[in-house]
Amino acid sequence: MRKEFVKQVDEKRLSQALLAAYADEWVAGYYYTLTAYSIQGPVAGEIAENFLKEAKEELTKHAIMIAERLQSLEVELPRDFKALFEISRCKYPELPQDPFDVDGWLIAAIKAEECAIEGYKELYELTHGKDPVTERLAVELLEDEVRHRTELMSLLSEEGLKRLVG
Ligand SMILES: [Fe+2]
Ligand SMILES: [Fe+2]
Repeated sequence: MRKEFVKQVDEKRLSQALLAAYADEWVAGYYYTLTAYSIQGPVAGEIAENFLKEAKEELTKHAIMIAERLQSLEVELPRDFKALFEISRCKYPELPQDPFDVDGWLIAAIKAEECAIEGYKELYELTHGKDPVTERLAVELLEDEVRHRTELMSLLSEEGLKRLVG
């Protein structure tokens, strides 16, 4: 009975992908919170608010949805926080040294979102037509991460935009 709907999916790859995504959500949630309380300067307030809103979504929506899926698949969550960081696929891009470098904080987050987007695309490809429950999860999270990336991009200065593409 159990896991009957995911028979066609490589179970090992599926649990690895879900665990890595779970870890990525925690890592992003942590660094977004850190960013919200570290950035400084005249626009820091508005930017911090956006980071806190996204941190909340990573931790209280995404990480929870993935945990529920892992529980359904009878995959245990890492019991050691260090191990959680190690299985993170994206880790986190380098943070700016200068707390006033608002573009630098945003660029790190945009790169983190791009890594998450890649991860959910891969999860979608792995499950497409085989495991509809995880496939739907991947689509929903992919939509959220694309929106996060767009929101972060809109907060970049013109110079920041050049730094990102250059
Ligand atoms: Fe997320
Ligand atoms: Fe995100």
